[in-house]
Amino acid sequence: DKGGYRHFMAKEIAEQPAVLGDVLSHYIKGDRIVLPDGMDFSEVDRITLVACGTAYLAGYVAKYWFEKLAGLPCDLDVASEFRYREPPLSEKSWGIFVSQSGETADTLAALHYARGKVAKTVGVVNVGTSAIARDTDTALPTMAGVEVCVASSKAFTCQLAVLAVLALKAAQDRGMLDDAALARHLADLRGIPALVNQALSTADDCEKLAEWLSESADVLFLGRGPLYPVALEGALKLKELSYIHAEGYASGELKHGPIALIDQNMPVVVVAPRDELFEKTVSNMQEVMARHGQVLLVSDAAGIEEAGDGIHAPLTMPTGGGLFQPIVYAVPMQYLAYFTAVAKGTDVDQPRNLAKSVTVE
Ligand code: F6R
Repeated sequence: DKGGYRHFMAKEIAEQPAVLGDVLSHYIKGDRIVLPDGMDFSEVDRITLVACGTAYLAGYVAKYWFEKLAGLPCDLDVASEFRYREPPLSEKSWGIFVSQSGETADTLAALHYARGKVAKTVGVVNVGTSAIARDTDTALPTMAGVEVCVASSKAFTCQLAVLAVLALKAAQDRGMLDDAALARHLADLRGIPALVNQALSTADDCEKLAEWLSESADVLFLGRGPLYPVALEGALKLKELSYIHAEGYASGELKHGPIALIDQNMPVVVVAPRDELFEKTVSNMQEVMARHGQVLLVSDAAGIEEAGDGIHAPLTMPTGGGLFQPIVYAVPMQYLAYFTAVAKGTDVDQPRNLAKSVTVE
């Protein structure tokens, strides 16, 4: 049941404030993080995050969080590479396997490889009865509810919510945050569903911008820090849904290659809240504009103001969220892809050649 929406994707995007509220109140009670027994990171020396596709990109954001908040070294890999590379794993490390379906063949094989080599395997899974939920030592439900659209939306942001909780727990267990700092981060995280709700109102702007994107052959997405994986997710969603070639790059990598592609025909989506790295992003945008590239800047009001004239299309996001902003910025990535697909008339909920659950490698 599409609940009055034109596509499951639109419904699932709109459900995010509610499901994020559910999952966060499951793992955070007042000022306490509540996780199953044995989820104590004090002795953990390293995290290995393994997943595929969008779930991998959730892991990519989490790498920034684990490293920054908890000072915990974090390796990240796509499951199809990890499983055959035979990586050495520390016996004090934990492996975290992220999967909506819990049935992805490569992720399951990666888990089986890691079992017995690491101190603990943790599943971050949406389907509680799945193989990955069953075969991990601890399975943490992401509680997004059934996701019908093949392209992941609410499952992604709920994965991020659970991973954010884990990173904060790791920081707490390792003595990296005093009580006041922990309380501040928890308040930021609890505020995310309301910010995601505000971000839903970018839909109208995204629909207008999609007219432009749908005419393009290629789109570049740029981001820095924890917003870099969000740029990758924007590119992945756009190619899956609209069949437009899209690539995500770390903003700082622009001059190491992709700048050669820039001309007036290539939209460049810059995902950049006004943070401490923003100045660097402004200079990246100037490099794009000097080559007649057209910038779609996704930022907060302060960022849009600071970026000044020359931006082809500003998309204003709510302010706030602290380190957990990637969850909020996922929303316009979803809407840009969604409305571009609608404008192109592709099959939004069932893109060609894709399957919801990839149980063969
Ligand atoms: C993208 C998408 C895929 C999945 C990937 C992993 O929109 O949905 O990239 O994220 O196939 O699937 P799960 O999470 O079920 O392991």
